[in-house]
Amino acid sequence: MNHKWSPGFLEPIPSSGDLPEVITSGWQSPSNIALVKYWGKLPGQIPLTPSLSMTLSACFTRTVTEAVRSDRPGAGILINGSAGHPFLPKMKALLTFLSGQIPVLARYRYSVTTQNSFPHSAGIASSASGLSAFALCLLGIAEKALRICVPAETFLRDASCAARMGSGSAARSVYGGWVAWGQTNAVDSAADTLAVSVTHLVHPLFQTLRDTILVVSGKPKSLSSSEGHMTMLCHPFTEGRIMQAKGRFIQLLEAIKAGDLPMAGMLAEAEALTLHALLMTTPGGDILIEPGTLEIIRRIRKARNDGLPIFFSIDAGPNVHLLHPEEASTAVRDFCATELLPFCENGLAVNDGCGRGPFRIDGVAYEGEGRV
Ligand code: PMV
Repeated sequence: MNHKWSPGFLEPIPSSGDLPEVITSGWQSPSNIALVKYWGKLPGQIPLTPSLSMTLSACFTRTVTEAVRSDRPGAGILINGSAGHPFLPKMKALLTFLSGQIPVLARYRYSVTTQNSFPHSAGIASSASGLSAFALCLLGIAEKALRICVPAETFLRDASCAARMGSGSAARSVYGGWVAWGQTNAVDSAADTLAVSVTHLVHPLFQTLRDTILVVSGKPKSLSSSEGHMTMLCHPFTEGRIMQAKGRFIQLLEAIKAGDLPMAGMLAEAEALTLHALLMTTPGGDILIEPGTLEIIRRIRKARNDGLPIFFSIDAGPNVHLLHPEEASTAVRDFCATELLPFCENGLAVNDGCGRGPFRIDGVAYEGEGRV
């Protein structure tokens, strides 16, 4: 399905003199964990498979973007005072895309101050939170430049579409709760170009699911997710993987609707291990899990057999997301302390859970704030 750019943004651009000289926009946006993974993409950031994720709460990025009117337009961005930030190419790609849709954005130069809630050394992916926060800021700037107020639903759709151009997983961080991205007949209005919220379909058990992120290693990954996506363009298992992800998406959606923890757990674990199996079995791939990752998986499975309601997911790195219902939090905390933290770098784990999504931090009331 093609995303039609929102009419709100197709206003004529005011002449330079009528444009505000300086505009600021700030957003706090969370990370997310996909239980059915997006892995592999086509040009234009079109995912090979649909993905289904839970938006987090404690792991977020706070970004304030200042736009200064400029006679020399271009994708000029300074991040935390530097032109050498690792996210700069992704942010430039996002800005270039959005300036094509909303030309007024090309009349400004940008200075971005951004900070994560989690330590850089925690090895927690920050591209979903960072790029979604930047997309939301740019749309906030466009609103102020054009002196329009875009309805919350449209604003978030457009933010999801734009965030995708920086980092695919960022398209999902625009919404709280549970989010689907990628074409599938299982969700009305699902699209390859933007994510949609499915929280209203989800059982309460999953709307309050907790996620203890076990930081096995905070070292930078030896393979970026962009390189990983590339391996799927010529992987011997690509065709099978696409079929599998489409099927698992439907099964997982049914499981989280029904509150079926064992089924959701089985699918999430299979997805996490499939991601790493795909990575390990292709030229240009790599082994991103560590011995500690495997030991944690074994211990989670043993504890589950002994009655603890837990399951895991893993992103393209060594860290383990331990997922569990809220009511098991005390038992899980004790289990982690004795059995799992010894395998974490400096005993580090982040206590997180299903979150409510991004919100503005520039003092402007926003009707979509806290929506799930
Ligand atoms: O958004 P990217 O390009 O960093 O890719 C994310 C890929 C995974 O995190 C491995 C899976 C996912 O769906 O988030």
